[in-house]
Amino acid sequence: VTNRPPLAFAMYGRWDPVPLTDAQRNRLEELCEVLDWRPLGRFDDDRARTVLARAEVLFAHWGCPLLDADALALAPGLRLLAYAGGTVKQVVTPAVFEQHVLVTTAANANAKPVAEYTLAVILLANKNTFVAHELSRPGTEPGSLSLPTPGNYAKTIGIVGASNVGRRVIELLRPYDLGVIVADPYLSAADAQSLLVEKVELDDLLARADVVSLHAPALPSTEGMIGARELARMKDGATLVNTARGSLVDARALERELGSGRISAVLDVTDPDEPLPPDSPLHALPNAFVTPHIAGSNGTEVERLADFALEEIRLYVAGEPPRHPVGADDLERIA
Ligand SMILES: NC(=O)c1ccc[n+]([C@@H]2O[C@H](COP(=O)([O-])OP(=O)(O)OC[C@H]3O[C@@H](n4cnc5c(N)ncnc54)[C@H](O)[C@@H]3O)[C@@H](O)[C@H]2O)c1
Repeated sequence: VTNRPPLAFAMYGRWDPVPLTDAQRNRLEELCEVLDWRPLGRFDDDRARTVLARAEVLFAHWGCPLLDADALALAPGLRLLAYAGGTVKQVVTPAVFEQHVLVTTAANANAKPVAEYTLAVILLANKNTFVAHELSRPGTEPGSLSLPTPGNYAKTIGIVGASNVGRRVIELLRPYDLGVIVADPYLSAADAQSLLVEKVELDDLLARADVVSLHAPALPSTEGMIGARELARMKDGATLVNTARGSLVDARALERELGSGRISAVLDVTDPDEPLPPDSPLHALPNAFVTPHIAGSNGTEVERLADFALEEIRLYVAGEPPRHPVGADDLERIA
């Protein structure tokens, strides 16, 4: 580690100046020699070549161009990629790990607002709030809607994925009188025990949960993991919450199941399109509550992402291990 290692920013080029508070800038300047306060929005122009030639630390954020072999060749001294965002997979390639660049992520910081949104949705869903709001409009009929007995007492919440978000939701649910069951092939029995949850198979979770909340990453193995068969296993009146990725759910099967009125859904993510296209049948359904991908960091919450990246840079400069490192082997399992 160099004394005040040279640092560059990589993110959407239109974010000029970089989206940091004055306090964050001052902290960064104490830790590093900032090569250029204007972010690199591309790695193939003269400014990028000049800045990357000296950079030891890259502070990356949404819109960071791909760090492929060509980009890495321009940055031979790069040692730390501090990603102030969630999905670092979008930015790194094998070349990053081959060059022994330490990669850190703020996914755990981005998980916080998603978990807060999810907690709020679970508590409101258990009171039938979303459907009640729709039915409060004059002339709206419940039709064949299946509504569960309302209440936040003695209900079971099914968490699919003990991910960054899933674990935070489990923690947030602790003060409530709700049981929590978790399905995750990567969750060890010891981990489930320390989380104070019951580990179950997905089929079992679907059959038992009053609210099924999805927190697994989009991977080839999770695409369409909730299809017609899985939806049919859910209890009458249960709610599906998806803040993860639309691709986890078979969209046509969900439309059919919601159309029957048997279950409800709260969806922050949809597939294939976000926001939901105007002709989607979900718009007309009182048992479908859709938000346009707002659960993750927004507005003031972006400051927290930068704080996480700053902390990783501080640890690097102090010669200490990172809090949230990402290894090449992690990529097949993480969001
Ligand atoms: N709505 C939003 O604004 C928003 C914001 C951030 C993240 N997300 C999404 O939330 C989800 C969780 O994000 P994260 O950062 O917590 O993920 P993460 O990287 O922590 O998830 C990895 C973990 O998921 C679990 N997992 C993997 N495959 C699984 C499977 N088949 N079944 C169950 N669990 C499985 C494993 O425990 C693994 O360690 C992702 O889909 C992510 O894209 C959405």
